[in-house]
Amino acid sequence: MATNDSDAVYLFERTELERQRLNQQHALLVRLCHDHLLHPSIPRAQIKRIADVGTGTGIWLQQASRSLNTAATADSEAPPLACVGFDISDAHFPSTPRENMTFVKHDMLKPFPQEYHGTFDLVHLRLMVLALKKEQITTAAENAAALLKPGGYVQWSEVEPAKLEFTPTTPAITTARAAMRANSVAKGLATTPSVDIRAALEALSFTDLTVEDYSSAGRDEFTVPAREWTKAGARAGLRVALARSGQDGGQETADTLLDDYVRDIDAGVVPTLPLAMVVGRKGKDSAA
Ligand SMILES: C[S@@+](CC[C@H](N)C(=O)[O-])C[C@H]1O[C@@H](n2cnc3c(N)ncnc32)[C@H](O)[C@@H]1O
Repeated sequence: MATNDSDAVYLFERTELERQRLNQQHALLVRLCHDHLLHPSIPRAQIKRIADVGTGTGIWLQQASRSLNTAATADSEAPPLACVGFDISDAHFPSTPRENMTFVKHDMLKPFPQEYHGTFDLVHLRLMVLALKKEQITTAAENAAALLKPGGYVQWSEVEPAKLEFTPTTPAITTARAAMRANSVAKGLATTPSVDIRAALEALSFTDLTVEDYSSAGRDEFTVPAREWTKAGARAGLRVALARSGQDGGQETADTLLDDYVRDIDAGVVPTLPLAMVVGRKGKDSAA
């Protein structure tokens, strides 16, 4: 259920099933990125404070914290890593976070509380564009940038809808994708997120900007997980997308389309999962 204007754009319900979907999706995406929680260009030794914006269940933050802390324990002088997860909803926050982790309810389209400004070495965002109108990416980037120390890093990863492929495609898959696309158009969402994110960061004078494309294409080990990922995404979002894009033929139509979509995927369709990771650095001379 929508709780405010920002939340009204968001497609997915916050149920136990959605928590499981987010955590399974995390495992898949990390493997897709060759087990890089952090892009290799980010110097791990310099990362002492991390913010994860739109943290969801906090799964990325917890794993990144564990991985960086393991490296830091080799250096007994290193202070413990501090992590803050922000999200517009606290529904999926861990009930017993580790002591170096804090979870804060906050809408990223509003400025973050002053106490967090200029205090982080890394701000991470992932899979946020289904919650953002294209024109809101600039505001989200500005608010995220304000969290960073000068010289701090941003890592923002998104699935690139334009590069999603289904081989072969079927009428049910075409109809379902058209509904998702129509929802994106109706809500004014970005269709090429990495282009918009890169442009927003460039306008904020970020340096060392790179866009790393990861894809499951040609990687046979991803065929089955990518099928499960697309089915879980459709189960979670298709009904709402149909309703929002004015194609709502009622519950029965949505159920039939979903059944056909799942049947076709299971019959041997190979989906390609494309993720773009944008990495950049806040200018050293930027005001904190
Ligand atoms: C698809 S989930 C991704 C979660 C997490 N980043 C991950 O990769 O597992 C998107 C998350 O963004 C949150 N969200 C949506 N709109 C937001 C906003 N305006 N400000 C902060 N978080 C928001 C949702 O509540 C949800 O937890």
